[in-house]
Amino acid sequence: MSVPGPAPHRWLGRRANAHAYAADPVGYTADLYHRFGGVAGLVRGDRRQVFAFGPELNRAVLTAGDTFHTVLEYAVPERIRNARRGIGLLNMNGPDHRRARRTATPAFRPQSVGAHAETVAALAAEEVATWTPGEPFDLSERMRELTLRIACRCFFGVDIAGEAAGIGRMVQDMLALRYFASSIRYFPFDVPGAPYRRLLTVIRRLDAALASIVETRREGGAGADLLQALMAVRGEDGEGLDDDALIGQLTTLIVAGHETSSNTLVWTLLLLSQHPAETDAVLEAVSESDTDAALAAAPLDRVLKETLRLLPPGPNTARIAVAPAELGGHEIPAWCQVVTSKFATHRDAAVFPEPLRFRPDRWAGAKPSLYEYLPYGAGPHACIGAAFADMEMKLVLAAVLGRYRIAPVIGATVDRSVGLMMAPKGSVPVVALPRDDSQPARPIGGDLNEMVDLDGADRWRLGW
Ligand code: HEM
Repeated sequence: MSVPGPAPHRWLGRRANAHAYAADPVGYTADLYHRFGGVAGLVRGDRRQVFAFGPELNRAVLTAGDTFHTVLEYAVPERIRNARRGIGLLNMNGPDHRRARRTATPAFRPQSVGAHAETVAALAAEEVATWTPGEPFDLSERMRELTLRIACRCFFGVDIAGEAAGIGRMVQDMLALRYFASSIRYFPFDVPGAPYRRLLTVIRRLDAALASIVETRREGGAGADLLQALMAVRGEDGEGLDDDALIGQLTTLIVAGHETSSNTLVWTLLLLSQHPAETDAVLEAVSESDTDAALAAAPLDRVLKETLRLLPPGPNTARIAVAPAELGGHEIPAWCQVVTSKFATHRDAAVFPEPLRFRPDRWAGAKPSLYEYLPYGAGPHACIGAAFADMEMKLVLAAVLGRYRIAPVIGATVDRSVGLMMAPKGSVPVVALPRDDSQPARPIGGDLNEMVDLDGADRWRLGW
């Protein structure tokens, strides 16, 4: 059976569709979902990239880790792959991944993660103390720097505050250059000025900086961080992780573990700024100083769940079929890229009534299955840092909302930008207002309104 899908562009063919998808993955995927549902190709009859929708196909793709591999290793140019000292969980598949994952898991158990709560709360409080009420600042930038600082402290014990050229800078440079950028994929030449050379250079520098941290630990330095926990674990053969494996895991942890949280924090504070009643419920439940209360607060838990439903940081998850497979009655050839969509899955009105509304109260009773609600993924690659992320985001929100309400500046516009993750495009200017300032919500413009019903108006929202 041929895969349904849109017609290729009249003159430019499939390439134009690929370009449209890269320019707006959320919009393109939503369109495929509404027009074709089930399984659809990037273009009609496509055997190179197909989209699989719905809980049943989420399960089929995400749990079959030996057939559907993560895409990272396939998308990275070979010389960049070879330049790295080690690789992390998201770059591994099959038995190698299973072994590494089993070894790393104890370091991420809720008990191990709980040991970091005090550090997270202290760093968040320090950040919020630098804000001046009523003075505009870029919420995206502040949350990104805070979560990167938390990651470097909790993962390997380094405080990047105030550093100009250290690890924090290198990580930001590496993420800004992006492995997948077309300038790197289509111009992989190690020549002066090329983004490819800059990426190689920053990877080598970051590896060297992490290697020196690992070396210091091996020489007897102590630390109460994830690195120490990872160094303590032993595989079934009694062996621990070698230096390259540790460096690879640390790099993946920083990449996977700070922008995800920072984007979710920004989305949460923006959504709350539009919903004063939900904000009041959270304000009542949290205070700056009581971390235990924040971790246990049901209103905060529901608000986070609802943000991750509407605006999951990874709206699409792609896999490469390494062997022929069958999905929804369609034959999938080897080397086809299969894309699943949390974004579409989380908007099924049968599971989430009024799916476009931000309604944290739905979580008082909602019990979706693992494949109906999967902000942290599912199957062998499901987020290993979910317990850490949950603790971190609750404590940062408690630090912010324990002191302030956040409001967008008047006339603010928020659009999505989707690369590896879905983030607000550019800066997000906001002001911190006193907690008892109960002025009406200041409306937000931009395509955030396509993804969430903020105004109750009956209008087109990506087909929902
Ligand atoms: C809001 C916060 C976060 C969200 C929504 C999130 C989401 C996800 C998702 C969806 C995956 C699966 C990717 C796939 O299937 O291809 C994943 C994997 C992963 N996440 Fe997270 N994540 C978050 C925070 C974190 C944090 C804080 C850490 C580190 C402490 C972390 C570490 C990882 C790692 C290492 C993997 C790869 C696991 C593997 O391949 O076995 N994440 N995350």
